[in-house]
Order: sequence, then C-alpha cells, then structure tokens
Amino acid sequence: MSFKSLFSKTVAAVAVSQVVLVDAFRLQPDNAKRLDATDAVFPGAGATILQHPADWSRNIFPIPVHSHNDYWRDVPILDALANGVYSMESDVWLNPDDKELYVGHDPFALSRERTFDKLTLRPLKKAIDQANEANHIHSNSPEAKFFANLQNQSYSQINTSSTSRVGFYSAGVGLGTPLQLLIDIKTDGNETFPYIVKCLQPLADQGYLTKYDAKTNKTIPGPITIIGTGNTPINQLINLPSPRFVYFDCPLGKLDAPFTVNGTSHSYDHTICGIASTNLGSITNWKGIDNATDDQRKNISVAIDQAHSYNIKTRIWDTPNWPTYARDNVNKLLLEVGSDWINADDLSAIASF
Ligand SMILES: *[C@@H]1O[C@H](CO)[C@@H](O)[C@H](O)[C@H]1NC(C)=O
Ligand SMILES: *[C@@H]1O[C@H](CO)[C@@H](O)[C@H](O)[C@H]1NC(C)=O
Ligand SMILES: *[C@@H]1O[C@H](CO)[C@@H](O)[C@H](O)[C@H]1NC(C)=O
Ligand SMILES: *[C@@H]1O[C@H](CO)[C@@H](O)[C@H](O)[C@H]1NC(C)=O
Ligand SMILES: *[C@@H]1O[C@H](CO)[C@@H](O)[C@H](O)[C@H]1NC(C)=O
Ligand SMILES: *[C@@H]1O[C@H](CO)[C@@H](O)[C@H](O)[C@H]1NC(C)=O
Ligand SMILES: *[C@@H]1O[C@H](CO)[C@@H](O)[C@H](O)[C@H]1NC(C)=O
Repeated sequence: MSFKSLFSKTVAAVAVSQVVLVDAFRLQPDNAKRLDATDAVFPGAGATILQHPADWSRNIFPIPVHSHNDYWRDVPILDALANGVYSMESDVWLNPDDKELYVGHDPFALSRERTFDKLTLRPLKKAIDQANEANHIHSNSPEAKFFANLQNQSYSQINTSSTSRVGFYSAGVGLGTPLQLLIDIKTDGNETFPYIVKCLQPLADQGYLTKYDAKTNKTIPGPITIIGTGNTPINQLINLPSPRFVYFDCPLGKLDAPFTVNGTSHSYDHTICGIASTNLGSITNWKGIDNATDDQRKNISVAIDQAHSYNIKTRIWDTPNWPTYARDNVNKLLLEVGSDWINADDLSAIASF
C-alpha cells in the first residue's frame, strides 16, 4: 500500500480529531514497513532513525488539481493533501440565526457540527502548523539547536522578508507550493463576507495567508492563498484594508471588461484575481466525446491565453465526469493548452491520470 493510500485510508477510517490529524501526518512510508517485517537492521517501523525531521510531506507529489466540493470527501482537506492536491473548495453558508458559517452543498446538507472553522480552517491550519514544527523553522527542539550552524546557512538562503513560513508541500526550508482555498459563498455576499474575513484573520495574523500590499503593489506569498468565489462581493473585497488576504475568482474569458464599484471603473489584474474561472459550456460546445475541432480547441485556448496575458491562472469547471474517456479527453486538452488548474471530483483518478 502506498503512503498516499495508507494516509488516506487511515484518516478516513476514523473521525477527524486533532489527535488523528497529528498521527496521520506522521505515518511511516512503505520502506519502514518492510524493514519492520525483517527487523534485522532497524528496530521497528516506528524507530526514530527512520523518521525525517523535515521533508515530512515526502512521497507526496503536488499536482495542480482543484478538489471541487472538497467537503464531500470522507475527510475534507486531508484526502486532498494525501493525493498531493493543492487547491480545495468549500461551499459556505451564513446561518442568519446564529451568525455562524457552515459548510455544505445545499441547506439540507448542513449540520451544526460542520462549521467552516472546524471542517476547513482548522485542518488547514493544523497542516501548516505541523509543516513548520516538523521543519524546525522557529523551533526550539533539541535537534534544531544541535544543527543550528547547518540550518542557519540554509535558512539564510531563503527570503525571510517574502515569507517566514513553511508551506505544507515544502521539502525542508522555504515556502514550497502554497495551498489554495476557494471559498464559495452561497448566502448573500455582502452580508456573509465580513464573517469570512473575520474568521480568516487569525490565520493572516499568523503569517499563513498570501497577502497583497497596496502600498507597494506587491504580493507577499504565504502558505495558503484564499480566493473568494460564488457570491463573494468584489466591491467589499477590493476595499479591504491593506494588506488584503483575500483574492477574487475573476471571470475567465471576460477579463477585458472593466467592473464598477461605487461608480468607479476598475480593471481585473493579478493583484485582484487569484485565478480566473468559468464553466466549459460557456466557452465551447465541446463535451469531450469526440476529438475537439480546431475551432473548439481555439475557444478554450483563447480564454486561457487571455488570462495568461494578465498573469492570471485559470480553472475551467463543470467538465464531464462521465464517460470517463470524455473526462480524460477534456483534462488532456486543458493541460495541452496550458490551463493551470484541473478541476477534479475523483481525486484518486486524477492523481493517477
Ligand atoms: C542561528 O540563527 C539564529 C537566528 O538568527 C541565532 O539566534 C543563532 O545564534 C544562530 N545560531 C548559530 C549557531 O549560528
Ligand atoms: C525578498 O522578498 C522581498 C519581498 O517580496 C523583496 O522585496 C526582496 O527583493 C527579496 N529579496 C531577495 C534577495 O530576493
Ligand atoms: C500593480 O502592478 C501591476 C503589475 O504587476 C500593474 O498591472 C498594476 O497597474 C499596478 N497597480 C497599481 C495600482 O499600481
Ligand atoms: C453588494 O452590494 C453592492 C452595493 O449595493 C452591489 O452592487 C453588489 O452587487 C452586491 N454584491 C453581491 C455579491 O451581492
Ligand atoms: C459606496 O458608496 C456608499 C455611498 O456613497 C458608501 O456608503 C459606501 O461605503 C461605499 N462603499 C464602498 C465599498 O466604497
Ligand atoms: C467557438 O469558436 C467558434 C469559431 O470561432 C465561434 O463561432 C463560437 O461562437 C465559439 N463558441 C463559443 C461558445 O464561444
Ligand atoms: C481522434 O484523434 C486521435 C489522435 O489524433 C486519432 O487517432 C483518432 O482517430 C481520432 N478520432 C476520431 C473519431 O476522429
């Protein structure tokens, strides 16, 4: 059994609790199991000599995949991380009665336990906490002290003014590949958005979120990039105090058209747009069953090239799930024409694509 499936199955087998999160991230790779069977060289699979203090997400290879409706999975966030996926999505509802944010596909799928904080933000935070602890950055562990000379040389090579935090998929020091969270606001955008910002603030204060500094017009990368989609109100988003830690999911194929906030016209650019998305049907009538015609291929590549000319990454959603050859045809063409994110419902299928 691979590390990934072991990770996934173990996590799925038990309820998500803090203890489980910690243990799941410390599972040993296959090699340790084999050595344990012989017991000849190393004293068992749990032996400390087989544990790498850093490189803790080793054997997980990040893939540019977006886990669509991530909260539907057996274990949200962790199943995606175990598959190397670095973009996830939560559908979020503000309940008018208790002003709490809940996660679910529709109002009938909500439960009091499944809050945005517990189902999405806490597991994400835990993942980044552990990456930073395991990688000895800002750590007072005996190993960190003992290897301070070697670690300081390496640490000095990373740009600590651009990031002081290690990302989930970092091998050793440095940010590595940031995670991306799409927050799909389902309830009224103007009413819900302030609650979203409020519950993200602790993560921002900890240096865990990518930020846009309006004074310098620069992005400060962080381990997690937050993107508002669905009913996210762009008028509130662009007026957030600087540094702003929420980006917008801009309309792919329509980036040339300005948008208006309070009577003032603005243009889309990469300081606002974390990504640009649209559904496949809005740009082409191709459904992946036959080979795409040149025109159909061009429908897609034109939209993607436009976003890239703005330095904005792309995602095309509502791609077919079935028949699976149509799904694969679409994903193959999207990769060929340079789409940055592949939207996926079946994570194990896309991980072995
Ligand atoms: C390593 O760097 C830290 C932080 O800059 C410093 O406090 C410490 O003295 C350094 N240790 C060594 C052995 O250079
Ligand atoms: C480090 O990052 C900061 C902020 O992004 C940037 O201004 C600076 O030029 C970078 N320094 C180096 C040496 O790359
Ligand atoms: C910020 O920088 C981008 C390019 O990186 C540029 O397109 C944009 O006009 C700048 N915005 C401001 C307000 O200077
Ligand atoms: C939020 O309010 C503004 C101003 O009233 C309105 O123009 C905008 O459409 C609203 N946005 C959403 C997503 O509801
Ligand atoms: C838009 O204009 C209204 C009325 O002038 C003002 O109350 C509101 O704060 C403005 N909103 C933004 C996001 O600037
Ligand atoms: C796809 O491209 C063709 C040929 O340029 C165009 O006629 C058609 O409207 C495009 N389809 C969509 C959905 O934009
Ligand atoms: C689709 O394209 C492939 C590869 O170019 C080709 O082998 C196949 O015959 C084509 N299928 C159809 C139905 O045209």
